[in-house]
Amino acid sequence: MSEMLKTSGLTKNFGGLTAVNNVNFSIEEGDLQSIIGPNGAGKSTFFKLISGEIKPSSGQIVFNGNDITGLAQTQVSHRGIAVAYQITNIFPLLTVLENVRVAAQSRKTTFNFWSKAESHHEITDQALAILEEIGLVEFKEDIAGNLSHGDQKRLEIGIALATQPELLLLDEPTAGLSPTETRYTIELIKKISDHLTIILVEHKMTVVMEVSDKITVLHYGSLLAQGSPDDIRNNEEVRRVYLGGVKV
Ligand SMILES: Nc1ncnc2c1ncn2[C@@H]1O[C@H](COP(=O)(O)OP(=O)(O)OP(=O)(O)O)[C@@H](O)[C@H]1O
Ligand SMILES: [Mg+2]
Repeated sequence: MSEMLKTSGLTKNFGGLTAVNNVNFSIEEGDLQSIIGPNGAGKSTFFKLISGEIKPSSGQIVFNGNDITGLAQTQVSHRGIAVAYQITNIFPLLTVLENVRVAAQSRKTTFNFWSKAESHHEITDQALAILEEIGLVEFKEDIAGNLSHGDQKRLEIGIALATQPELLLLDEPTAGLSPTETRYTIELIKKISDHLTIILVEHKMTVVMEVSDKITVLHYGSLLAQGSPDDIRNNEEVRRVYLGGVKV
């Protein structure tokens, strides 16, 4: 297996606050790694640095052997990294299908500006295949803003998938979901992890322990621990700072 993403000394300061502090992280192609840590640990900021939404104060990000540090968000997206955000980022007034079509098209038209290779029909077919995968095909004509919270979070994943990423960043995909919706989303994550490399930020430890190949723990922006679910479960320091002494 080869290393897909690697950060070296990645750091982000917001004024006097170091939100991400000298983080060395890497993920192998095909893996699903989770990042856990208390509120404010820097997890979302770490994703924003990778996706190009914000620029690092220092450090380097290498994706598939290329330095992508400081690239704009659209360039990072075209390289093959997609994010499904913690705060849902759908177009609420468009239909479910239109939301995924727009994302699919944004990738295609920028790539093949002069070609008509991707027809209207092909993009619609791709979008429908994604709706099938995320279990929303029956709602394709519904207005996205009218979906349940759980379905909106899954649509957010569908929008990310529509850009055909190699690496998918999922920021709290089960936040605010009921146990039934959480189960549905876990199964979806497992399914897409068969063909994608995934970094998952998640607070629900049952989810993290079930799906992760490897877990990274952030604490005040710094990397506190890294290892298999068992390593993390049994790590005294992690239990003390994050798991509140609770055995999971
Ligand atoms: N744009 C910003 N300007 C100033 N401070 C910020 C900014 N974004 C994040 N921070 C701060 O950086 C720290 C890390 O925030 P971040 O959102 O990355 O945490 P998180 O681990 O995702 O937390 P949560 O689990 O609550 O989502 C926090 O102290 C936060 O207040
Ligand atoms: Mg966050």
